[in-house]
Amino acid sequence: MNEDHFYVTTPIYYVNDVPHIGHAYTTMLADVLARYYRLLDKPTFFLTGTDEHGQKVHDAAVKAGITAQEQADRTVIRFSDTWKKMGIAYDDFIRTTDKRHTDVVREILQKLYDEGEIYRGEYEGWYCVSEERFYTEKELIDGKSPEGKPVEKIVEANYFFKMSKYQDWLINYINDNPEFIQPDFRRNETLGFLKKELGDLCISRPKTRLPWGVELPWDNNYVCYVWFDALVNYISSIGYLRDDEKFNQWWPASYHLIGKDILTTHTVYWPTMMKAMGLEMPKTIFAHGWWLVGGEKMSKSVGNVTDPMQVMDLYGVDSLRYYLMAEMSLGQDATFTQENFIKRYNSDLANDLGNLGSRVLKMIQKNFAGVVPEPGEFTEDDLKLRDHAFEAVDVMEERLHGMRLDIGINRVIETVREANRYFDKMAPWTLAKKKEAERLGTVLYVTAECLRIVSGLLYPVVPAKMGQLRRSLGLSESEVEPHLAGLKEWGRLNSGRNLGDLSALFPRIDTKKPKTADKADKAAKATEADKDKSEAKPEAPEGIALIDIDTFFKTQLRVARILSAKAVPKAKRLLRVEITLGDEERQLVAGIAEHYTPEELVGKTVICVANLKPATIRGVESKGMLLAASAGKTVKLVTVEGDLPPGASVG
Ligand code: MSP
Repeated sequence: MNEDHFYVTTPIYYVNDVPHIGHAYTTMLADVLARYYRLLDKPTFFLTGTDEHGQKVHDAAVKAGITAQEQADRTVIRFSDTWKKMGIAYDDFIRTTDKRHTDVVREILQKLYDEGEIYRGEYEGWYCVSEERFYTEKELIDGKSPEGKPVEKIVEANYFFKMSKYQDWLINYINDNPEFIQPDFRRNETLGFLKKELGDLCISRPKTRLPWGVELPWDNNYVCYVWFDALVNYISSIGYLRDDEKFNQWWPASYHLIGKDILTTHTVYWPTMMKAMGLEMPKTIFAHGWWLVGGEKMSKSVGNVTDPMQVMDLYGVDSLRYYLMAEMSLGQDATFTQENFIKRYNSDLANDLGNLGSRVLKMIQKNFAGVVPEPGEFTEDDLKLRDHAFEAVDVMEERLHGMRLDIGINRVIETVREANRYFDKMAPWTLAKKKEAERLGTVLYVTAECLRIVSGLLYPVVPAKMGQLRRSLGLSESEVEPHLAGLKEWGRLNSGRNLGDLSALFPRIDTKKPKTADKADKAAKATEADKDKSEAKPEAPEGIALIDIDTFFKTQLRVARILSAKAVPKAKRLLRVEITLGDEERQLVAGIAEHYTPEELVGKTVICVANLKPATIRGVESKGMLLAASAGKTVKLVTVEGDLPPGASVG
């Protein structure tokens, strides 16, 4: 990684496309990386933009009866609006129709032509309109492009860039610089491609066939091939041939982020072009995998676009950002399902992080009038949690450099879980009851400090929500955006600060289908009609024995909080659950494994039958029973409305 700056780019998207999760993912990834490098105090530049020349824009304009430029102007808004809505903080948005870009493309072309790097020749090849590129006969699979798109044969006079002369240099460069193409298996893919003889690159299109592009400076019968034009965006945007100071500040790029489908253009065409221009190579070209829906790449042509706007509108930008970043192991493909999305949201964000935030903040509010308390002496437990959080900072930084954000994020959530366990173990509600104010203040302080660190670490991924949490913790506007140094310092959240707005961070997504309304309706009406009768003469419905209230109160029901849950070996329906009743911890066996995953249970507030005779179920001791309600196959744990500490009695 370059030591002095961080310059990250996304591919520039075909302006004619409708933005989908594929585009959104690369752009979010760049945004998250840029925000992490800003957190590391590295001067950062993040570039995105649109690819506006070429056949598709031309065809769409003809169809709409407008000019190609008008067509591009109409559609570019779809991208700029989407990025705005997604909170993408880019530093520059380049359009290949910007004069600042086309002028530089023309100057580069002229220079290369003058130097003999570009020559005129006869072209014979197979052109794929939808991918805007030529294929050789050998590259076709069953008469189609390797991507399965239709191709047409074309023979015409054209201009060529002497790409072939750089083949050996490129192979050596890739071998000598293992970080140049990442992940490793993509480097091997490019090296595999380079085993075949590399031809020269046709860089022109006759205007008779395609009038929409950058005109060649020396021959106005031709426009420039769209990829040759598009790749130049990475340098024209930062002042190449125009503003040396700016260019030298940012070049070479740290990462060109791309999808795996545009590997060859970025790892073969672009490096040879740069070599001919005499440019230093970018540090890393990183190809991520695809987001799949039902096993297929999401794209407009397949017709399975999961509109990011829709997902965002339903569940919020930050939850989508979190899911995409935490779920994809960079480089590999990942499958997007709404079900999986909700599962992760509910477990990591609602149950773990949101729950921790609300527990701590509410207790500070209630017991210290909303002012961060002064901590007393730290115990071993306190310091253990602090070190857990510090370690998360180191892991996140290391994983960022290794492009494994998913592992880093999951490690941060591990600290959140640890903090929830710490909170349960310290049982601040009992400290409050016993009026142990100093210890109570320390426990709340330690957890709040831990939240400050965690919220800083997740800020680049979920900036709006973590901004909210950091303000709730009492951080001032200038402290909301985190810096690495602060995250490694214990005690930044000095006592005496007033908490900010305490609204819920991540309300749980309720996946319950609306119940059959008419059934419930009928039941309500029947109860109403029978009211008089039942009040006059209590009668047991057939088969149900009535009990008196004293019998009922023999059952001791108490509020419990789930500390952990694990599968019981060889028992598909059972989970071994550890709970706290405030003053005691217990283990019990619950038959809910088909309805809840262990992760979903941790942190839940439930109702436990506390005076049940202990039993051994499948070799596991069980002391108590959790209450659950069921309707058909649906089983839901009974819980309390609002916040009550473990141990509270029910009845
Ligand atoms: N215009 C060219 C890029 C020129 S860069 C000098 C282009 N544009 S694109 O709009 O078709 O695609 C842009 C990026 O979106 C590619 O990196 C592509 O891999 C990515 N994605 C498109 N669909 C995708 C998924 N389903 N999942 C993840 N990313 C995918 O190519």
